[in-house]
Amino acid sequence: MPLGALLANEAGNADRGKSLYPVCTACHGVSGAGNPAMKAPKISGQMSWYVLRQLELFQQGARGAAPGDMQGMQMAAMSRGRQLQNEQALADLVAYIGTFRDQAPKATITADIAAGEKLYATCASCHGDQGEGIEAMAAPRLARQSDWYLLAQLQKFKLGQRGYHDADHGGRQMRSMIMTLPTEQAMRDVVAYINTLPQ
Ligand code: HEC
Ligand code: HEC
Repeated sequence: MPLGALLANEAGNADRGKSLYPVCTACHGVSGAGNPAMKAPKISGQMSWYVLRQLELFQQGARGAAPGDMQGMQMAAMSRGRQLQNEQALADLVAYIGTFRDQAPKATITADIAAGEKLYATCASCHGDQGEGIEAMAAPRLARQSDWYLLAQLQKFKLGQRGYHDADHGGRQMRSMIMTLPTEQAMRDVVAYINTLPQ
């Protein structure tokens, strides 16, 4: 079935997806809270279209392909499990992830929130005022994502390790946006501000 049709039907079956999830728990946790020791992000509470899109990008080699992107490569390998080789399986898995309760992650980064708020003005057009994510912009939810993961991804966009592949259109867009965060401190400030968003 073409992906478009699948999304239109919202054909993911969470019960079937449950049987595909155990392999993910070692890194993302039984309910998707993430695991900093594995550098694996929280996936509960993220928008389903984005989770699906990222799994496809990893599977197709458009994310986790850049030299030096160790975590991306690890995740790309996981996305290619035999059981995940069809769109239906991915949709089922994403539907199951969508049933997880969203829990607020612990903040680990302290920085200049007021400076971060000013920097965030640029981000809002794609990610939303409250960091809620905007599907029409292909931009994910940032609110209530673990701060260490947000920072790590900003660093990867800056290094060109994410948004590396031609087919990674969203990643490339984000890579051009990272110019608005010229320093490590600016990245920390904007992440500290995102931590305050209640969404
Ligand atoms: C061996 C550890 C490991 C396993 C197992 C694993 N992942 Fe991951 N996953 C990661 C890491 C590390 C990242 C972050 C990659 C990066 O830094 O770009 C990630 C990223 C992701 C992302 C992107 C989230 C975002 O906001 O960018 C999704 C979605 C995801 N994993 C889903 C899954 C699913 C579903 C499974 C089970 C089929 C799974 N992962 C299994 C380690 C793992
Ligand atoms: C022009 C639109 C646009 C703007 C402006 C923008 N982003 Fe993004 N951002 C995106 C898109 C699209 C993605 C998804 C990339 C992908 O599909 O891999 C993204 C992804 C991200 C991610 C990765 C999240 C995850 O879970 O993997 C972070 C972090 C992020 N953006 C932070 C920011 C910050 C901070 C700003 C402001 C400085 C910003 N973005 C401005 C479009 C934008």
